[in-house]
Amino acid sequence: MGCYWPIFDYSYVEYAVVTGANKGIGFETVRQLANAGATVVLTARNQKRGIEATKLLQESGLSNVIFHQLNVRDPQSIQSLAKFITTQFERLDILVNNAGASGVQVDEDGLRALNIDPATWLAGKAVNMVQDVMKTTYDTAKECIDTNYYGVKNVTEALLPMLQRSTLGARIVNVSSLRSELSRIPNERTRKELGDIETLTEEKIDRILQKFLHDLKQDALEANGWQKMLPAYSISKATLNAYTRVLAKKYPKMCINCVHPGYVNTDINWHTGTMTVEEGAEGSVMLALLPEGGPTGCYFDRTRLAEF
Ligand SMILES: NC(=O)c1ccc[n+]([C@@H]2O[C@H](COP(=O)([O-])OP(=O)(O)OC[C@H]3O[C@@H](n4cnc5c(N)ncnc54)[C@H](OP(=O)(O)O)[C@@H]3O)[C@@H](O)[C@H]2O)c1
Repeated sequence: MGCYWPIFDYSYVEYAVVTGANKGIGFETVRQLANAGATVVLTARNQKRGIEATKLLQESGLSNVIFHQLNVRDPQSIQSLAKFITTQFERLDILVNNAGASGVQVDEDGLRALNIDPATWLAGKAVNMVQDVMKTTYDTAKECIDTNYYGVKNVTEALLPMLQRSTLGARIVNVSSLRSELSRIPNERTRKELGDIETLTEEKIDRILQKFLHDLKQDALEANGWQKMLPAYSISKATLNAYTRVLAKKYPKMCINCVHPGYVNTDINWHTGTMTVEEGAEGSVMLALLPEGGPTGCYFDRTRLAEF
């Protein structure tokens, strides 16, 4: 492990879309891609927040950032973005699926009072400490899976015709998480199914997600070997990685990868993260700007190739 692909030629990169980009890692990803010369569509589900974020970048001199509304859970909103890209550009070179939801309801003051150190968080050792302040309900889990898995899938499918027109093969970056890693899934069957690229299919992934939601309804997550810490978020990102591999196999001319951005100080982790958004966007930007012949169907821990 530990490979690094240098970024050297941006000339073929013209048009990019970043989802969930009004703040956090997505906003910074737009900034770095625009700085590299791409015309970037900053998308956000909230029109006002998206326009404000776009203005901020435009006023800093990045006139190549434009806004379009996108709620990744809303089919009409996805269609409207696809139509916009088709009429405005001749192709799409980069899609960064960055929008994400945590899948939990959190008592933020209670969480802060626990004062959990980053090492404990990352090792998954905080699980018993957070039981009273962090709740997974059916609705929070469904929102999470619909955003982190089906949102990515539906946006990608809608934009695929334009991505297929990219001259050197499009780059798709799916922003995943450390919590997606297969070794963290207690259930051996799920771990094996998600890890076997030879037999993985989208239907198989659907069945795993349905089983997860069924077990959650039955209050049987732990009994059936789902993760205790952020269970919905973890399975949403593990299935996202699996989808990344299925897609990469289907479109060998593209570079389609997933990336853990690092433990970054943003709203999604209630600002428990330790890295800056600049550091957090590095992996996404590197994978968005991969040179020809770069890796595909891989998982990266920031800029380094890692095990699924
Ligand atoms: N921060 C970390 O340590 C960390 C670690 C691992 C992975 N990640 C991943 O990194 C990505 C970016 O997260 P972040 O840390 O930058 O968190 P963030 O600042 O909370 O950003 C999340 C973004 O996703 C957007 N979003 C949520 N649901 C959406 C929907 N249905 N449609 C469109 N946009 C939606 C949010 O929009 P609103 O402002 O409207 O809510 C926001 O723009 C996520 O995929 C996250 O899972 C982060």
